[in-house]
Formats: sequence, structure tokens, C-alpha cells
Amino acid sequence: MLLYLIFWKVIQEINIINQKHGGMIYMKLIGLSGSLIGEKTPKLVSEVLNQAKHMNPNIEIELIDLRNYRVEFVDGRPLTSYNSDTQMIVRKILEADCFVIGTPIYQASITGVLKNLFDHLPTNVFESKIVGIVTTGGSNKHFLVGENQLKPILSFFKSIIPSNNVFAHSSCFDKDSNLIDEDIINRVRRLAKEILFFQERIND
Ligand SMILES: Cc1cc2nc3c(=O)[nH]c(=O)nc-3n(C[C@H](O)[C@H](O)[C@H](O)COP(=O)(O)O)c2cc1C
Repeated sequence: MLLYLIFWKVIQEINIINQKHGGMIYMKLIGLSGSLIGEKTPKLVSEVLNQAKHMNPNIEIELIDLRNYRVEFVDGRPLTSYNSDTQMIVRKILEADCFVIGTPIYQASITGVLKNLFDHLPTNVFESKIVGIVTTGGSNKHFLVGENQLKPILSFFKSIIPSNNVFAHSSCFDKDSNLIDEDIINRVRRLAKEILFFQERIND
């Protein structure tokens, strides 16, 4: 009996050590793409998710591509009175550990569809959660839109924002909207690494 208890305790300790130091800490990383029509933003967000999964195969990743959902306009009603897509997306966001949020730049700002989704969320939604930022745009002059427009909103929601972020100009994609710019791919890797690094320590 004593031998069995010692054996059981040792197995438990090994599991704890594995979870903490073997990259086996479970967490869910959601990628949110705020484009309603284009391919570039969802592909850039997916790239971050895939890099993160490559770095830590034990995490769960999911892309919320707003092209595939009908999120209703916020008008002040309680969440339960909106359609099932709206409720489902808000629920998924509430349950995830960390995020990468991507938006195409529209009129030197984020898209209206992304802002509308933010309006559905409780104000502490990203508390103690890492939220990475990626943006796509047709003008290099707008590379700071993520920093100047999206970051303040995410700070309001109490998120922790990585120092790395990614802006990808249209020329960084091929005609099928695949990311082809090596510098941007490296920036994506650094962002994925930073998201995992900090969220693992928060969850630890
Ligand atoms: C309505 C609209 C407004 C836009 N405004 C800007 C802008 O102010 N600055 C910019 O760099 N690109 C602007 N663009 C270009 C998009 O940001 C760019 O094409 C983006 O990569 C599209 O991403 P998507 O393929 O994910 O939709 C605009 C595009 C649209 C449709």
C-alpha cells in the first residue's frame, strides 16, 4: 500500500513538472479577424496561430473569421437577446486565455465590424490576458494604426499587449493573399513567441 502511494505521488510530481516545464501548459489562443470580405487579415491572423501551435503543440488554437458569422449591431439589449452567432462568439472570447486580433485598416482606423464586436464585450474581458495585434493595409503611412487606435481599446479592456506587433502592407502577400514577406513572417514568429511566453507565465 505504502509502495503504491509513493508510486502515485511520484507520477503526480512528474506530471506537474511536465506541465510547467515541458511546454504542456494547456491554454487556448483565439485569433480574431475583423475583415468582412478580404483574405489578407484572416491569413495573417492564421499565420500567428499556426506559428504558436508549432512552438507549443499542446495549445488549442481557433480562428474566429468574422466573414463566417453574422454579428448583430449593438443597441444596448442584453446579450441573450442577440442571435446565436453573436452570443457564441462572445462566449468563445470569454473562455479563451489569449488572443491575436487582426484588422484591415479602414479610413486610418479599425473596421466597424471589429468595433461593433468590441461593443458586445464586458469591460474586463481581457483582464490578465495577452492580446497581440496584427493589421493589414494598403498604405505604409498607416503602419501605426494598430498602436494608436487598437491598442487604446485593448488597454481599456485591461489586456496585456505584447511589445511585438505586425503591420503587413498589401505587397507582403501574393495574388492568393499568402504571406510571402520574410521580414513580416519573422515578426509574426516573434509575436507568437511573446504571446505564448507571457500567457504561460500568467497561467502558471
Ligand atoms: C473601406 C476601405 C477603407 C480602407 N482604408 C484604408 C486606409 O485608410 N489605410 C490603408 O492603409 N488601407 C486602407 N484600405 C485597404 C485595406 O486596409 C487593405 O486592402 C487590407 O489589407 C484589406 O484586408 P483584407 O484583405 O483582410 O480585407 C481600405 C480598404 C477599404 C475597403
